[in-house]
Amino acid sequence: MRVPIIAGNWKMNNIISQSLLLIDNIKEHSLNKEVEAVVCVPFTNLNEVKKAIEGTDIKLGAQNMHWENSGAYTGEISPLMLKEIGVDYCIIGHSERRQYFGETDEMVNKKVKSALKHNIKPIVCVGETLEERESAKEEEVVKEQVLKALEGIDKEYIKDIVIAYEPIWAIGTGKTASSDDANQMCGFIREIIGNKYDKEAKDNIRIQYGGSVKPNTIKELMAKEEIDGALVGGASLVAEDFVALVNY
Ligand code: 13P
Repeated sequence: MRVPIIAGNWKMNNIISQSLLLIDNIKEHSLNKEVEAVVCVPFTNLNEVKKAIEGTDIKLGAQNMHWENSGAYTGEISPLMLKEIGVDYCIIGHSERRQYFGETDEMVNKKVKSALKHNIKPIVCVGETLEERESAKEEEVVKEQVLKALEGIDKEYIKDIVIAYEPIWAIGTGKTASSDDANQMCGFIREIIGNKYDKEAKDNIRIQYGGSVKPNTIKELMAKEEIDGALVGGASLVAEDFVALVNY
């Protein structure tokens, strides 16, 4: 059985005081214990948020990491640094990092391997642009991203990997992929995993949809067979909305 996972990606939002307020407001509600709830917060807020969620079931995530443990990489954060704080998850290869910061599939692969080595569960983001979808290349693009991200990774790690299908045209635009389109692509990704590994891996890998997910769209998405969760930007910044997403 795959445990559903709803992760909030706060992106570059919330100074520490705002983060603590948001967590306090989330804590006023009860969250469905059968759903894994994760908050992926800016680096500077990780430590304080970790303390604030102590005693709850909420998990902590980072939004990026370097693959090396230490070294001359000015401005970067290493897996050891994240591990010390107690980070459970790390978003890797978000389209905003690929688009604005030049992250390549090769870098994504190194980061995924390093995260797994350090017991940090990677949330690996893949997804096509509008142009790619309009020229019917979405499956080709997503397949390449998935296979490159997982290159050289053993089957035993599959249970710790989450793949987030986030079509770039649906991020922050208010345009959600239809639940059927999202389900179809998540199913396609599951097939890729099945072909690369085996049926067990195919059945175990958790696949999220992301892109303008809101409280009024989550139920329909989560009802789909292939969708195991959501990676949520905007709506995760509002306590009531995040709670509604987790309690879909
Ligand atoms: P929005 O939910 O704001 O569209 O963001 C999606 C996203 O990029 C999550 O990683």
